Amino acid sequence: MPTVSAPLVRRGFGETTRRDAWWRKPLFTFLGLGAFAVYATWAAFQGDHYAHGEYLSPFYSPELFGDSSHSWFGPKPGIWPSWLPWSPAFLILWAPGGFRLTCYYYRGAYYKAFWGDPPSCAVGELRKGYRGENSMPLILQNVHRYFMYLAVIFIFFLAHDAWKAMWFLDPETGVKTFGVGVGTLVLTANTILLGGYTFGCHSLRHMVGGFMNSISRSPMRKKAYDCVSCLNRGHMIWAWCSLFMVGFSDVYVRLCSQGIWTDLRLF
Ligand code: FES
Repeated sequence: MPTVSAPLVRRGFGETTRRDAWWRKPLFTFLGLGAFAVYATWAAFQGDHYAHGEYLSPFYSPELFGDSSHSWFGPKPGIWPSWLPWSPAFLILWAPGGFRLTCYYYRGAYYKAFWGDPPSCAVGELRKGYRGENSMPLILQNVHRYFMYLAVIFIFFLAHDAWKAMWFLDPETGVKTFGVGVGTLVLTANTILLGGYTFGCHSLRHMVGGFMNSISRSPMRKKAYDCVSCLNRGHMIWAWCSLFMVGFSDVYVRLCSQGIWTDLRLF
């Protein structure tokens, strides 16, 4: 069989023979994730205007300690050092944040967008060797599975928040009655999108599917595997839609709580 020797030429950073706009995706990823990270950090540090009546911002749910009526265990714990900034979000936001940061899809996206490793497929990169995620610090990305366990629990908290957002206090009778406001729809849509993202996780797929090299023969587990696989096929879409919606939910509750927006009651 004839062989042709083609020398491998190392490309310089950003060099490519691609003619399409390969830079567009990493650029939008950089802008989208960057904007979300800045907003989420700002919102978490506010420690205020995160609840409006029965609505609770997902950045603050569950509110373990805090001043709103949603708090589980009362106000800020006395042992919290006075020199340390305080916000109820600090106690919980690390879990969904860690889940997203270590997500298989986001990893691929932000490695390209934030440190060009590589900038895109078949585009020259800075690094000369390939180490994968086998050494520090990227080996820590393997904690994703444990963040997934927590993220699944959070979906139940958010579903409970969406349910609570359907009960409005009548100021005259003091009784809560069923109703739907725009905020109810926002928080419900947020729960559905985050659920679609979380239940389509690659780690969950492996967990429900079976063993290391084979799929379980149990019909229930096969069904679960199919369901997670179905969501997993659109994981990127779920990831972006849920990212937008969780940020928008916080904006919505925040602006309603400040009296800038008025929550429209649909019925
Ligand atoms: Fe994306 Fe687990 S792989 S959430």
